[in-house]
Amino acid sequence: MSNLSILVGTVYGNAQHVAEEVKALLDSQGLTATIYDDPSIDDFTQSSGIIVISSTTGQGDIPPNLEFFIHDLREQFPLMNHKPFVVAALGDSSYGETFCGAGRQIFELLSELQGQALADMLEVDACETLEPEVMVVEWLKPLISKFH
Ligand SMILES: Cc1cc2nc3c(=O)[nH]c(=O)nc-3n(C[C@H](O)[C@H](O)[C@H](O)COP(=O)(O)O)c2cc1C
Repeated sequence: MSNLSILVGTVYGNAQHVAEEVKALLDSQGLTATIYDDPSIDDFTQSSGIIVISSTTGQGDIPPNLEFFIHDLREQFPLMNHKPFVVAALGDSSYGETFCGAGRQIFELLSELQGQALADMLEVDACETLEPEVMVVEWLKPLISKFH
């Protein structure tokens, strides 16, 4: 029985909207998923798979709503034991070197925790698409069966 956690990092709501579309996709495929914009370590450890959808703020920074959670994750370092995860990063390539910086930090952390990345991190560039949810959903479709 799958029990996926969708962790959302957002400042202006774009990533939240993407997360809702992702949840609708998962629901339609018979997977159980919960969206968290203020996750606890338990929400993380008790899930069967992790989907992170996060924008980047500041200069490559994690959105404030995920900051404490990521801090706790680094402190407590709960090993994932090859639990599957994916990271979709929303960003803007006009920020140059810090493009998708939050997503990159999170992807690296989950890899250090020995999660199993089902795909390379997806970079969604606001300069290239006005519909990040379409890009993320299309990217996720072929990966879904790996979460079952
Ligand atoms: C103040 C500010 C800082 C930003 N800094 C970055 C950045 O360092 N790197 C990046 O890739 N995108 C950056 N962005 C772009 C956002 O990540 C992008 O617009 C994203 O789609 C916002 O999604 P959200 O509504 O879920 O927060 C920044 C946007 C703002 C407004």
